[in-house]
Amino acid sequence: MPRWNAQDKQVYRTEVIRRINAAMPLVMQEYASINWVEELKGYHTDHEYYPDYIHAPIHGVTDAYTNPQSCLAWDAAMDAIIPLSHNVSCQQLREKMAELIPEDTSLETVLELGAGTGDGALALARRFPQSTFRITDVSPYMLVISKHKFNKVGFSERALFEQVDARHTGYPDNSFALVTSSLLLHETPKEWIPKILKEMYRITKPGGWVLYTDTYRGEYALNASFQEPWLDDFIHFNFEYEFAKAGFTELNYIRYAVGLWYMVGRKLVVCQGNFAK
Ligand SMILES: C[S@@+](CC[C@H](N)C(=O)[O-])C[C@H]1O[C@@H](n2cnc3c(N)ncnc32)[C@H](O)[C@@H]1O
Repeated sequence: MPRWNAQDKQVYRTEVIRRINAAMPLVMQEYASINWVEELKGYHTDHEYYPDYIHAPIHGVTDAYTNPQSCLAWDAAMDAIIPLSHNVSCQQLREKMAELIPEDTSLETVLELGAGTGDGALALARRFPQSTFRITDVSPYMLVISKHKFNKVGFSERALFEQVDARHTGYPDNSFALVTSSLLLHETPKEWIPKILKEMYRITKPGGWVLYTDTYRGEYALNASFQEPWLDDFIHFNFEYEFAKAGFTELNYIRYAVGLWYMVGRKLVVCQGNFAK
């Protein structure tokens, strides 16, 4: 893998920012119809609600997920970053992830944690037309944007948009046929990572699935070009081990494109019964 030097990183940052700025007029047009006051009703917008760590300068921005402008720029950022960093489009990342769950799987309810603007859930919603969705995030602005997208493609009846902290979701045990998330854990302090995986396991139904994707493993992390406050911790996790330790089985770790990886696994059905003679 080519190692980027300081100049490569600067060129990359400049190009990402140029692409985001170029995309923003269309983004603002797309979301101009949102009545934010109305849409934010029922969600927390106070800074005390958010996890402390979210106020750190993620990508150099202190209010990355607690400010509507930054959230509106998220898709433009992903559309710039994913192809420039990983040589695939953002759409390919989402579609390929959804394809890791066999098409004939019956997924009654899918939960996405830290869903951002909902593109991962949208790819799953297209692949599994019978499924309903809980789209969750701590950022109310991300939820409003996701909802707008689901409305636009006529999927709004199939989804709820809930402000939920992935560290302690409050959902009952064994609730969801699939629990999914993407790019959440590299932005999470290390003490929470095993806890979030345990929480994902707790709320997955026996026989259900876990599906995750992230970046920055191994030497690819050396190419990180924007500020990532918890990357030094993240790169030391062995995720095959952590997902297994949380309880998941049949784990399949898949390298995808440059620096991207998927994890897919199951929660076993526990056989109840007296096996003693
Ligand atoms: C890097 S973004 C990824 C967004 C989306 N999953 C994607 O792939 O584009 C991280 C997202 O996780 C959310 N987040 C961070 N900590 C969270 C937590 N404890 N619980 C739920 N969401 C969280 C942020 O608000 C943000 O939307």
